[in-house]
Amino acid sequence: MKQNPTIAVIGGTGVYDPKMLSRIETLAVDTPYGTVTCQSGEYAGKLVAFIPRHGSSHSIPPHLINYRANIWALKKIGVRKILATTAVGSLNPQYKPGDFVFPDQFLDFTKSRVLTFFEGGERGVVHVDVTTPYCQDLIRQLADAAAKLNLSAYSGGCYVCTEGPRFETAAEVKAYRHLGGDVVGMTGVPEAVLAREAEICYTTVSMVTNFAAGISKELLTHREVFETMQQNSENIRKLLAEAIEAIDPQTDCACHHALQEFGGFKF
Ligand code: HPA
Repeated sequence: MKQNPTIAVIGGTGVYDPKMLSRIETLAVDTPYGTVTCQSGEYAGKLVAFIPRHGSSHSIPPHLINYRANIWALKKIGVRKILATTAVGSLNPQYKPGDFVFPDQFLDFTKSRVLTFFEGGERGVVHVDVTTPYCQDLIRQLADAAAKLNLSAYSGGCYVCTEGPRFETAAEVKAYRHLGGDVVGMTGVPEAVLAREAEICYTTVSMVTNFAAGISKELLTHREVFETMQQNSENIRKLLAEAIEAIDPQTDCACHHALQEFGGFKF
């Protein structure tokens, strides 16, 4: 019987194809939220799924991404660990363009997104704990992988998620910094929350592409974000490959029991 992927990469801006995978197949996975097309391939003897969050040609803006379909599809095919790349602006002078950050907290400033698989009715109501919204084990494994590769990376930090698709005002950036934010992006929420509801380990591989609005001396452009991601694509690929090699998809941790109080995640 053909096996299913147990590790997934969700690629953000600048990460549109699963470069390190071999023997790639395309899977179409039906979910209650629509059909998700993802790719599945092999790396280091492991099967890995890949979804480009914005579509393969960056045609889906952050607020219109079908986050629920993507996470449901990964759960359905048996994925247990997700590494999600995100381009971010830096609010923290210590974190510079080209640096990796593996956040351990988020602040949610999104406005129009559905944040849950549980909207009452048959599926009921679930209040999932997100005291530590990202998988601590995966953060550790990413930090180890970055250290091994001698990459500039920070473990921990607070990811601020904005609604987008516009960039922030200088006043917003100042406020987010005062609130404890370190980096700002547009796609980390609700993805992390849905993964926790689906009892999948999830963490964000943030790449700093710019200093945030008002900190940067220049006006922000998507081109700058995209170009920094492109320039660092080899580092992203190496980091993901090293981490995937180290991850044992069958290890258990608290993420896999997030809905214990509610009888576990059910399709
Ligand atoms: N703000 C929001 N999202 C981003 C940024 C930013 O400065 N850079 C990359 N993604």
